[in-house]
Amino acid sequence: MCGIIGYVGRKQANNILIDGLKRLEYRGYDSAGLAVLDDGTICSLKRVGKVRELEKAQEHFQHNGTIGIGHTRWATHGIVSEGNAHPHLSDGSHFAIVHNGIIENYLPIKTFLLGKNYTFYSDTDTEALANLIDYHYQKEKNLSFVEIVRKSLLHVEGTYGIAVLGKMFKEEIIVARKSSPLLIGIGDGENIIASDASAIARYTKQVVYLNDGEIASIHPDTFSVTTLYEGLVDTVYHELDWEISDVDFKGYPHYMLKEIFEQPAAIENAMRGRFTQDGSSTKFGGLPLASQELCSIERLLFCACGTAYHACLEGKYLIERYARIPVDIEHASEFRYRNAPLGRNTLVFVVSQSGETIDTLGALYEAKRKGNLVMGITNVVGSTIARATDGGIYQHAGCEMGVASTKAFTSQLTILSMLALLFGRRRDMDYATGQQYAHALRSLPERVEEVLGLSEEIRLIAERYYRMEHFLFLGRQGMYPIALEGALKLKEIAYVHAEGIPTAELKHGPIALISEGAVSIFIATQKELLEKTVSNIQEVRARGGKVVVITNDNRIEWKVISDDVIVVPEVHGGINPIISVIPLQFFAYYIGILRGYDVDRPRNLAKSVTVE
Ligand code: G6P
Repeated sequence: MCGIIGYVGRKQANNILIDGLKRLEYRGYDSAGLAVLDDGTICSLKRVGKVRELEKAQEHFQHNGTIGIGHTRWATHGIVSEGNAHPHLSDGSHFAIVHNGIIENYLPIKTFLLGKNYTFYSDTDTEALANLIDYHYQKEKNLSFVEIVRKSLLHVEGTYGIAVLGKMFKEEIIVARKSSPLLIGIGDGENIIASDASAIARYTKQVVYLNDGEIASIHPDTFSVTTLYEGLVDTVYHELDWEISDVDFKGYPHYMLKEIFEQPAAIENAMRGRFTQDGSSTKFGGLPLASQELCSIERLLFCACGTAYHACLEGKYLIERYARIPVDIEHASEFRYRNAPLGRNTLVFVVSQSGETIDTLGALYEAKRKGNLVMGITNVVGSTIARATDGGIYQHAGCEMGVASTKAFTSQLTILSMLALLFGRRRDMDYATGQQYAHALRSLPERVEEVLGLSEEIRLIAERYYRMEHFLFLGRQGMYPIALEGALKLKEIAYVHAEGIPTAELKHGPIALISEGAVSIFIATQKELLEKTVSNIQEVRARGGKVVVITNDNRIEWKVISDDVIVVPEVHGGINPIISVIPLQFFAYYIGILRGYDVDRPRNLAKSVTVE
């Protein structure tokens, strides 16, 4: 939520800030702004709307400073306006600050500062911190920059990732973190700070992640990290594993389409080096569990949000079916406050593409507090969740920029399917069944390529339905999570009413929605219960509803009982969900495009949600 970038070095800061903001835009795009220090004056520029509005305005912004900070906003306090956009300057313009998170006690701070004759120009919580920093500076003018910010933060309750510029500190940026990610990219004669790696990857691969409660002073050639309580911190350097090309469009019109087409490679990367030598099981170097421990697990609990939650629900179907271990899944935001009883032998997994979602992080800490081992499945190496878990599995899907998750979802499904195989082989799955399963997994990239070939066909189908306002996605058993995901994708980027429903539940309420204006999309890719699904399709047709079927079965005259049919390859049950969801990704993409929306920046959403 909200993107932060900062630069201190020898080059002109403006262009670097704009470039970074473009790469961070998926974190928020209500408004954007930057501030540079030019000849001892803080000069700032802000615009409502996308970063390109700021970029246009910046052509007339003649400031050559070599130090600056920038921000792209996802509004929490205050409407979307230039006044509320970041950076926020302190009254008198001695300091500028960009902030990600929420300062919960900003009202008492603001009241205190109003009493000291500070004037406020925005409705934001952030401006209170800008003025609090100025207050501490005015009070003790001989303090170092880091001391001024540290003293201010000791009064702050809430969450923050901040970067601060001070007009009298010509070559220094202060950054600090509590629950909102920040990292320092170490360059040669320059350092870059950002809220996530995508903004840094093009400049350097060497980074230092800030931990909660840490504050850092950044100069062109040096930096130092301490805790808020002044303890020194041992610097741990990480190597970014991102390629610059990960964040380019590679000729596609949108990140979302590019990432749909990157799925074979993402899935291949999720599996690389993770099959056992006998070809009947999988192995994960990051799961620090001895064989006996794996066998003694009695229950699994998965916590996640959004698309990752749907992956977990699919994981439940796969693991219970193939490994016969009971699996609970829970929305992370619910789990963290629910005081759920957890058995001693319950292994907890948190799943998060970004590794930064605050609700998922909250669930992780809650499970650890209760003494359970917590593993992570995440795409971002070095992310907070990756560092806070007891072990885990990296997705290696490459950077996902589209706000609507696609390749990260199928990569999570791949890993969960591999876990089902791993746990299955530790229980009662025999060698031959394990081999078949592993073989199916290995064939996945090729099968996914086949489904990608349906893109144009699905675009033509989308053309027939894009004006409709109601979409029901129906699936049974393991296709139910896929129905939920298909509906979520469509809601996210096409802003239409869409619901995922277990097919048989249709008659228990949602059937009331069926009319000529409603489209029902049946995911009929399992042999089991197919006849019953056919009956449900007839019920929809009898009420005048439109029907689209996704199937791999040619025994039924689908064309007679539906309006459109999408045929996908018939595959092993362990990989079927992955094959079945791709047509729905295309469907959502094309409907969003046909309705004229910016599918990479859907309204009101942000990719990584770091506020509660
Ligand atoms: C936000 C995004 C969703 C995403 C969810 C979880 O709500 O808009 O697309 O699925 O966060 O994100 P995570 O990074 O934890 O997988």
